[in-house]
Amino acid sequence: MKALILSGGHGTRLRPLTYSQQKQLIPVANKPVLFYAIEDVIEAGVKEIGIITGPNREQVIETVSSVEWDAKITFIHQGDPKGLAHAILVAEEFLDDEEFVMYLGDNILKDGIVKHAERFRELNPDSLILLTEVNDPQRFGVAELDESGRVKRLVEKPKVPPSNYALVGIYFFKPVIIEACKNIKPSWRNELEITDAIQWLVENGYRVEASIVEGWWKDTGKPEDILEANRLVLDDIKRDVPIKTKAKIHGRVVVGEGTEIDVNTVIKGPVIVGRNCRIVNSYIGPYTSIGDGCVIENTEIEDSVVLENCEIRNAGRILESLIGRGVVITNAQKFPIGRKLVVGDNSQLVL
Ligand code: DAU
Repeated sequence: MKALILSGGHGTRLRPLTYSQQKQLIPVANKPVLFYAIEDVIEAGVKEIGIITGPNREQVIETVSSVEWDAKITFIHQGDPKGLAHAILVAEEFLDDEEFVMYLGDNILKDGIVKHAERFRELNPDSLILLTEVNDPQRFGVAELDESGRVKRLVEKPKVPPSNYALVGIYFFKPVIIEACKNIKPSWRNELEITDAIQWLVENGYRVEASIVEGWWKDTGKPEDILEANRLVLDDIKRDVPIKTKAKIHGRVVVGEGTEIDVNTVIKGPVIVGRNCRIVNSYIGPYTSIGDGCVIENTEIEDSVVLENCEIRNAGRILESLIGRGVVITNAQKFPIGRKLVVGDNSQLVL
């Protein structure tokens, strides 16, 4: 089986971070979200992965290629995001009439996909979709099942959802899905929707089965989703503090090489601190990820994601924050004292 991982799209709900960075490359627990998808398909035995790229193509290629993967990776350029079914059509040559798993590169799944890949092999349907029960089905594709659990109908982001079963962004397909994608029309949002292609399968007598996801699942489309995915992943880390420090480090904390933490600092896990950081007289509280090369001085920070190379000094208490790369936060030293901001478009500040 091959895999098609989607790493295109504009990521508008994650601006301003996505002005400079492809959304699937935003780190959760210091690892790009996209890498979780790659690891999951490799764990399920996939040896050939196609990665769909969009606006920040070079960035995706560079980041993915910086790691040695136990699979052959092909980058397939989609250009403008014209829909999930459009991405399949762009990958037609790569897919080469084989069955495949499609994995949206902004999804994270606690338990991976091994169990679902086995179910796909056992049931041998034309498509197997992953579903999970949610409280807000309006935000997702939603499935209606018949008495035997087979898929009867799919609707994309319905105002009145037919059930609470949201489509997780992971789908197994036989090659007939290509024919389905060729037979559908763009939706009201002008995209070729994968839900319409799967609905085409149902209507044309093909068998679509469902597999229920029991562990947590997160679509990291918005800043609060990144923070939540970060909490969920950090909940599973193990303590690893290989450096010498007299700081008070409590619980499950991971610290990267070359990081210095002074004696006055307190860290309460679960926390991950990257490599070559300097943390002085600060408190790093639970559910925080600090990227490589950050300096944090005289600051309290908790329940937050801080990307690489930030400098945060005398910044008071920071909570539930998502801070992009190379950000400098400090307090005013000279008059006039006040909040001095250089903030990108579509930033959010709660002061
Ligand atoms: O996350 C689950 C949901 O994903 C499903 O419940 C929905 O049925 C499905 O349509 C999808 O909804 P989203 O609104 O979250 O899709 P989004 O436009 O965010 O795209 C999902 C991923 O695919 C994202 O990583 C960007 C990438 N993408 C998207 C489009 C439309 C592409 O690479 N190319 C595209 O053309």
